[in-house]
Amino acid sequence: MIKSEDISKILDAARIEDVVGVFVPLKKRGSNFIGLCPFHDEKTPSFNVNPARGIFKCFGCGEGGDSVAFLMKHQHYTYPEALRWLAERYHIHIEETEVTAEEKQAQSEKDRLFHVNEFAQKYFQDLLFNDEEGKSIGLSYFEERCLSRETIRKWGLGYCKDSWDDFCNAAKKEGYTEEELVKAGVAIRNENTGSIYDRFRARVTFPIFNIGGRVLGFSARILSSDKSKAKYVNSPESIIYSKSNVLFGLHLAKDRIIKEDLCYLVEGNMDAVMLHQSGVFNVVATSGTALTTQQINLIKRYTRNVTVLYDGDSAGIKATFKAVNLFLEQGLNVRTVLFPDGEDPDSFARKRTSDEFKAFLVEQSQNFIIYKTNFLKQQAADDPVKKAQMLQDIVYTISLVPDLLERSTYLQQCSSILEFDEATLSNALKKQLHQNALNKAKQETAKSDIVVEKSIIDVPIPTQKQIIQGDNNSDYEQEKGVIKLLLAHGERYTRQEVYDESGSLEYQEVLVSLFIVCDIVNDGIKFNDKVFAKIFKLFKESICDREELPYMNDFIANEDTEIKNLTAEILVGDRELSPLWIEKNIPVASLEDDEVFDKYVIETLLRFKLQKINATIRDIKEQLKEIKDPQESSILLYEYKKITDRRNFISKKLNQVCMN
Ligand code: CTP
Ligand code: MN
Repeated sequence: MIKSEDISKILDAARIEDVVGVFVPLKKRGSNFIGLCPFHDEKTPSFNVNPARGIFKCFGCGEGGDSVAFLMKHQHYTYPEALRWLAERYHIHIEETEVTAEEKQAQSEKDRLFHVNEFAQKYFQDLLFNDEEGKSIGLSYFEERCLSRETIRKWGLGYCKDSWDDFCNAAKKEGYTEEELVKAGVAIRNENTGSIYDRFRARVTFPIFNIGGRVLGFSARILSSDKSKAKYVNSPESIIYSKSNVLFGLHLAKDRIIKEDLCYLVEGNMDAVMLHQSGVFNVVATSGTALTTQQINLIKRYTRNVTVLYDGDSAGIKATFKAVNLFLEQGLNVRTVLFPDGEDPDSFARKRTSDEFKAFLVEQSQNFIIYKTNFLKQQAADDPVKKAQMLQDIVYTISLVPDLLERSTYLQQCSSILEFDEATLSNALKKQLHQNALNKAKQETAKSDIVVEKSIIDVPIPTQKQIIQGDNNSDYEQEKGVIKLLLAHGERYTRQEVYDESGSLEYQEVLVSLFIVCDIVNDGIKFNDKVFAKIFKLFKESICDREELPYMNDFIANEDTEIKNLTAEILVGDRELSPLWIEKNIPVASLEDDEVFDKYVIETLLRFKLQKINATIRDIKEQLKEIKDPQESSILLYEYKKITDRRNFISKKLNQVCMN
């Protein structure tokens, strides 16, 4: 038991951004921190850490709480364990009374499995250094493979004796039950005799850690080259270990991955360990399994750049092709390094100094799509069937690249490598992109249980005029209204409804430019007018990328004369409000009143959004008229339903604003 005065001391000392920061890369945003939520899959950060209140909150999945809650949820600690972790981090001495039998019983099942594994890890390592068999067999094996003691300690490597139940007996003596040992996967029960035995006997052990450094399970390598036995025996899936969710070595690599903004990916555990010893610390292993989306998302928390170091044999390359498509789909940049025949990263690194090896990785790394194109070209040679397959394959890979500019660069490069007409490839790419979009929409439609009837498109789209009386604004005027707000009032505060830390809507004072830019970016709305688009982009880059307000001078004195002139026109000459407000006879001076101003801001934004959404709706309607394929049209109908719902929501809000 931890005394209550110690608990208060711990809670006072804990700094939420510091605790969360151990596990989640955080970026400062105003007085808060933001990051990618570790509790659900996401691409843009909605995970918020508030130092002033000592809490975290994810607007995406709703998880939230203080430092202790974070550790319990993220590390699967019990309450006292979370407190102990914090006490250690903040050097707070705690006096604990003896743990009672009931308390032990009360520890969560997950927690007990972690303890089993942590005990096993220490036990196996102890054998390696202090036991005769461990030293002569296990340690000498690692020495043969050129691993230093330091490396062995760092990675927690160990040895499990060549005995049926040496480990099981030791664990039972420590108070672990047979059931726990079996559940954690370190022991196997013999169905006939009912007794349990060591899963990893006569093998060297590689613990598998989670990001926080807790032991999830083991991967254990045989010492002989007996081909009749599995080279590796791994912990089975358990309530704490799911192999598709883990990357071997990530706990040691993550800080360096952030620092280098690059992650090296290898197949084998041995490769990861050896690269680390060679001074390449930003390395993780897939442990021989096919890469999963969860694993990619783990990497994506730290970097967008991956270099794949797989063996150059044919099976290795095929596996890599698959992995890379997945990476590209997730918007990561992928490079690869080819090792000479018969070498893998481990054997190659071992023969070189750390500097030589690091230089090799940098020099030899090449863009993956280019590598693949060259490789397939060689394979296909003059076989026309293979050639056609190859083109399809490459076009598909390029179609997965999310960025348009990058896609067209690849297209050019590949067409020149393959000596193939660029226009033809470009057409094939367009078709493929269309197909991808269709597939994606199909998946979404399948996921949703909304049945959309074709009759919904017969309902006429109300024009803006019908929603708000007196509207005669063109798209241009709407866009201008927003840009004018940004240029003339971007630095003013306005009181608007925004999401607070607990995820609920609340009125807050926000900067006009922050409020407007974030909202428009979130909705993915684009400006049609070229100059407005440029000005908006400058605001967006400044606010979203550099997290600061742009200088007005940058616009007034912009080297782009179009931007300069328009800014001058808006700021100096043209001071009137939007046409609707003129109609209502509202003078510019009235904007000095905060309440009038707030209304002006939200109305301008909502009307702009409504205009854009209605245009999209009209587009979809037009498309629906032309599409004959029932499947394709059902997908569009679903899109139509989603966007009209959104439109109704916005027009309702707008009506509320206009009414009072
Ligand atoms: N693997 C496995 N089960 C096997 C073989 C391999 O789980 N029967 C996994 C291991 O995680 C291994 C990875 O696949 O690390 C890659 O396999 P391999 O390249 O054969 O292993 P290395 O770790 O490189 O082993 P070594 O260099 O010692 O032969
Ligand atoms: Mn190997």
